Amino acid sequence: MGSAIEAIFILKLFCLLMAAVGIQAQQTPSINDLNAECLGNVIRLSVTPLFEDVDAVFNDTQIINLTPGLATQCGFSFKFDPMGNAMFFASLQNCFSQNMDDKMFSLVMQFRLPGNHMTEDPVYRVGKTCSYTPWTSREILCDRNYMEASEMALNNVRLLTILFNSCFHFLRQAVASGYKMTAVVFSPSKNVMNVDEVQRKGYAIANTPTRLVLRSPHNAEETYLQNVAGVPMRVLSTSTFFEQKWLVTRVDATAVCPTPEAVAFTPEVITWYMPKHIDPLFSSDAFTMLEVYMGIDAKRLDTEEMAARNYSVLVTEAHIIVEIPVGAVGGYFKSHIQDDQYFVTYTIEPMLELLWIEEVAHENTSYKVLFPITTPPMARPPQVRNYTVPEQAVFVLELGTFNLDVELLNITFPTMVLTVAECNARGFNVQEQRSPDNTLKTFRMEVPFSDPVVFKERRAEQGVTTFTLQLIYGLVIFPEYAPFSHSAVVDAVLLDIVPPSVTGNCDQENFHITVDYRNQEPFFVVLVGKRLLNHEFAQQYLTEGDTDFTITLPFSSPDAVFESVHSSSVRSRLDVALLNPYNNMTIKYFSLACSFLKTLTECFSNGTMTALAVKVESAPGLNPGQLTLSDPACGPTYSDDRFAYFHFTVNSCGTTRKFINNVMLYENEISLPDELEVKLNATTLKVSCYYVANITRTLAFLTRPRDNEPFAETGTGRLMVRMRLAQDASFNTFHQEEDYPVVRYLRQPLHFEVELTTSSDPKVALVLDHCWATLNEDRDSRPRWNLIINGCENPEDPYRVVFHPVEVDARVHFPSHVKRFEVYMFSFAEDAVEQSGQVFVHCDVVICDASSPTGGPCSGQCVNQDNLKRGRSCFIMELNHPPEGDKCCTPISRLGQTMGDETKAFHCPVG
Ligand SMILES: *[C@@H]1O[C@H](CO)[C@@H](O)[C@H](O)[C@H]1NC(C)=O
Ligand SMILES: *[C@@H]1O[C@H](CO)[C@@H](O)[C@H](O)[C@H]1NC(C)=O
Ligand SMILES: *[C@@H]1O[C@H](CO)[C@@H](O)[C@H](O)[C@H]1NC(C)=O
Ligand SMILES: *[C@@H]1O[C@H](CO)[C@@H](O)[C@H](O)[C@H]1NC(C)=O
Ligand SMILES: *[C@@H]1O[C@H](CO)[C@@H](O)[C@H](O)[C@H]1NC(C)=O
Ligand SMILES: *[C@@H]1O[C@H](CO)[C@@H](O)[C@H](O)[C@H]1NC(C)=O
Ligand SMILES: *[C@@H]1O[C@H](CO)[C@@H](O)[C@H](O)[C@H]1NC(C)=O
Ligand SMILES: *[C@@H]1O[C@H](CO)[C@@H](O)[C@H](O)[C@H]1NC(C)=O
Repeated sequence: MGSAIEAIFILKLFCLLMAAVGIQAQQTPSINDLNAECLGNVIRLSVTPLFEDVDAVFNDTQIINLTPGLATQCGFSFKFDPMGNAMFFASLQNCFSQNMDDKMFSLVMQFRLPGNHMTEDPVYRVGKTCSYTPWTSREILCDRNYMEASEMALNNVRLLTILFNSCFHFLRQAVASGYKMTAVVFSPSKNVMNVDEVQRKGYAIANTPTRLVLRSPHNAEETYLQNVAGVPMRVLSTSTFFEQKWLVTRVDATAVCPTPEAVAFTPEVITWYMPKHIDPLFSSDAFTMLEVYMGIDAKRLDTEEMAARNYSVLVTEAHIIVEIPVGAVGGYFKSHIQDDQYFVTYTIEPMLELLWIEEVAHENTSYKVLFPITTPPMARPPQVRNYTVPEQAVFVLELGTFNLDVELLNITFPTMVLTVAECNARGFNVQEQRSPDNTLKTFRMEVPFSDPVVFKERRAEQGVTTFTLQLIYGLVIFPEYAPFSHSAVVDAVLLDIVPPSVTGNCDQENFHITVDYRNQEPFFVVLVGKRLLNHEFAQQYLTEGDTDFTITLPFSSPDAVFESVHSSSVRSRLDVALLNPYNNMTIKYFSLACSFLKTLTECFSNGTMTALAVKVESAPGLNPGQLTLSDPACGPTYSDDRFAYFHFTVNSCGTTRKFINNVMLYENEISLPDELEVKLNATTLKVSCYYVANITRTLAFLTRPRDNEPFAETGTGRLMVRMRLAQDASFNTFHQEEDYPVVRYLRQPLHFEVELTTSSDPKVALVLDHCWATLNEDRDSRPRWNLIINGCENPEDPYRVVFHPVEVDARVHFPSHVKRFEVYMFSFAEDAVEQSGQVFVHCDVVICDASSPTGGPCSGQCVNQDNLKRGRSCFIMELNHPPEGDKCCTPISRLGQTMGDETKAFHCPVG
């Protein structure tokens, strides 16, 4: 029978070989990414890039593609994890390694990586030679897809090298110089097969220089289940017959491997039971277990490493029990979808290595099992965590928890489907967040209430608005691209915001701002100017009512800004904003500007001027400390970041003076040094004081921003002139107020002094324009006797006025401010009629610019009789002498004055 089948089989393999040889001809790139290790009787290759195909390179010339079936038959297995790592395991006694005396084994493999299909896929070739000498009499290897038994053959029989695979039957001629493998008998079925039949059925049988190797898929026809110490095990049991002429030799080989039922699961722990005494392997009880090792992915671990990973191996009377926590290092989670439900499994591939000794024959049995364990699917229903704070007006949602192999693709809203990129473009800020140990992920996103995908419903009667977000997350599991979805509905309720009302008013000094929040909890923070209304600030400036509070701040508070400076006033503004504390959005803005009366310049009659410069909003960069008067050496006497205060005398700091009609004007300017002025766009402040004829008045300053029309401010001040009667010609002592009326006999001299008392400006001069005497206080009354006319003695006077020069002395600092003259006491002819006996003396004085006399009275006291014409540029002060109702009838004259406005003079009759 069988020969037709055999022929087809051979043909197929042949074709495959031809194809493989073709590939071998091309260049093979380097093998950097392949890491080969000898792990006892197993070779392990770790392959970083995923490969598409694997070939075994046999004897350097033949390239054989490893199909899954061929891999199982020939002792190879693969492991892929979802992270893209691959491992490749080969039994040392695989079909294709070159066996050197059962001591050295060389394997060459070729990995084809997925290419772009335009050119040939890249091929990586790796070779590894492992030496393995401690062969025991019997070695059992259980891998994921096959079970393998390797028995030491009879020592005295040199076994034929035969081909294990009929594929090579025609390539290599068996050397018929010794024993020939003739038949394999399977137990317990007692089925007998020749070698070819064995191979064809997917088993492998081979003899090496010293050993017989038998390999079978786990679920092959001739394997059977056996319960060993309560653990279901799969068994392959064979006897192989060798013949030489009339001699027949038999070698028994048995493999026993655990089934997946050997494992028990709890959600936390995987428990794997192995029988300690594996009956089918041992005929007697004389076997003792010598060694137990555990490992992962075919590699042994030492006890410290095991402890660090929380693995445990327990040897009991009947079992070896391996415990591995679900999630322990060395395994991996994988996502699954069943009925749109999310599950994860945990997979780990422990290894057990056991060594038994048979005490009588000293025959050792070593046993190695690579045992992939995957937990049953564990439901991990995703949760949407709601981190929304309604007041922030953004839904903040986190979907999780997922394994790393899950990706979010899109989100379906009631009105549209958006990819993650589209969501982010819309401002939803979708982010993948990893757990600290980088094993889990969640997806976080933010959807503003204002986005059209959010459904809004206003319930006016309750005064609330409900925001609802319906969404379906579209997810996918990689690498198999299994889609699934998770839907959620979240809502948030927000009290309708009735914006607080803000009102304000000003009194003479303060702003008052009232915020009425209408019985709702105040849900805002208050920004006053640039300052947040904090507790301290509130304590100082805030008064609370039931549903409102009032902030009272002085107009000069740093929280207010000066908008402009006007005549006698400053315009100051206070800005108040109510902010949403969560996003700093303005709920309400309120601004109040008022003009506050404020004298910024003062002119004192002693010739001192003061000026206060304030920084206005339009010159934000201004440092008031850098301001100076016209003379750059005159800086402020005090300044801070908002004010500069100047204090100076009219004869200093570059103050100029002008005479305009009846006005004497002192002017100065406050400005920045030129270079700063341009840069800071600052303004120049003009400061001026002026004095008017008959009243002493001070006029003050203005600020004049560039390009704006100036505005002036009027201040008050006094200019004082007094006239006194000296005791004698020394002009050192004067009659006091209470001395009047002063009595003088006819032709006795009277010494008058007229003085500008309160000016410190040396450039002004006081000139006596007219002086005359009357009998009563009315300066215009008749009779009148002129003493000084147009600054000079009355030429008609028989006893002419004598002017006395004035020198600087302890009392007189500015001689130009003082005039002295002497008259002789006289009486009017009408005295007899009037009987009053009093004489009143009046003077008109002129205050002139001494540095530039303009003629007229200002030319000087009686310089040129002929040129006595009244100058227009002079300031004329009239000294007037009303009586004080003094019923003085004693023969005393009285001359008096009060500061500034009026000077009184009585003249009592002589005798
Ligand atoms: C394998 O190659 C070696 C030398 O490289 C050669 O001696 C041997 O005959 C070859 N075996 C087969 C089966 O081709
Ligand atoms: C091992 O177990 C202990 C206690 O159960 C636990 O605290 C520790 O995190 C575990 N170690 C690892 C690596 O899982
Ligand atoms: C959204 O993602 C899911 C994967 O879960 C996918 O099946 C679906 O086709 C995607 N929808 C659109 C419109 O792209
Ligand atoms: C989401 O959170 C907000 C704020 O905590 C809450 O008002 C709302 O009821 C929550 N919605 C859902 C569906 O859990
Ligand atoms: C709001 O503004 C204040 C002051 O500028 C700042 O301290 C705070 O962090 C801001 N808050 C938010 C949510 O932006
Ligand atoms: C002038 O008077 C003012 C106001 O009384 C005073 O502050 C200032 O010191 C006086 N100046 C001089 C130089 O006396
Ligand atoms: C300078 O001042 C003018 C008018 O006061 C204003 O329009 C302009 O914006 C200011 N420039 C700068 C740079 O501040
Ligand atoms: C000042 O003089 C003007 C005319 O020169 C006169 O109208 C005014 O009433 C006088 N004022 C006082 C306070 O004498």
